[in-house]
Amino acid sequence: MLLCVRVIIEPDSEAASRRAAKFVADLLRKKPDCVLGLATGSSPLATYRELIRLHKDEGLDFSQVTTFNLDEYVGLSSVHPQSYRQFMQVNLFDHINIRLTSTNVPDGRALDFETHCRQYEQRIHDAGGIDLQILGIGTDGHIAFNEPGSSLGSRTRLKSLASETIRDNARFFGGEAKVPRLAVTMGVGTILESRRCILLAFGDHKAKAIRDTVEGPVTAQVTASALQLHREVICILDQPAASLLTRRDYYADVEKAQSLLEAGQLKQLGIGGQG
Ligand code: GLP
Repeated sequence: MLLCVRVIIEPDSEAASRRAAKFVADLLRKKPDCVLGLATGSSPLATYRELIRLHKDEGLDFSQVTTFNLDEYVGLSSVHPQSYRQFMQVNLFDHINIRLTSTNVPDGRALDFETHCRQYEQRIHDAGGIDLQILGIGTDGHIAFNEPGSSLGSRTRLKSLASETIRDNARFFGGEAKVPRLAVTMGVGTILESRRCILLAFGDHKAKAIRDTVEGPVTAQVTASALQLHREVICILDQPAASLLTRRDYYADVEKAQSLLEAGQLKQLGIGGQG
């Protein structure tokens, strides 16, 4: 296994989402009681659809899985249509055989956020840590709700949303004024502790954030760039999201080598050769 920031560029978001779902499904088959970190937003939607299909058509079993979501809007109850808990129910949990008690989403209406955030971190720890974290990315390069300027060592906490994020999410709330101003979110440090991350980005509106994340410097101004410090990140992109990357040929070479390794075709890689 080549551990690094892998960049997989698929022809379109559907193919990219199938690829992401395959990583999740492979893990589930290998470790049925795995811990998944889940994201909301439009980016993981098709991945969740494919996981539902795999559950229905191929019996992919979620009965022993535990999940932790990245974030939740402050002030929204779990039944609010725009809450991330509702998003997860509607787009994944209601369609697979996961136990509701094994799904964790931060509580946007906690009375004591300091205690709630500490307990959320503790629950992740007690579950054995996150095996695979799915991530989207904001147009300002944020992961979860870690807006530009967030500490790269941050833990689950309250965060003010940036104006760019409020603008991006206004469409779901019927106007900017209705978007909550605060969120409770896993920190960058929390995310970096997961064993593997899959970052999904589709569309040319994500191209700059992806360039900054993959090929820019590690900076708190683009919190996704902290993933460069992670032991195993897989960025799965469509062509438009990858369009500003300058090393696309190299990423394709790495993927070719990875496939040969996985297929055990070591000789073609010069492994075990003589001379
Ligand atoms: C929100 C979420 C992020 C998500 C981002 C991008 O800010 N907190 O987790 O990655 O939106 O959303 P989308 O995938 O819809 O572009």
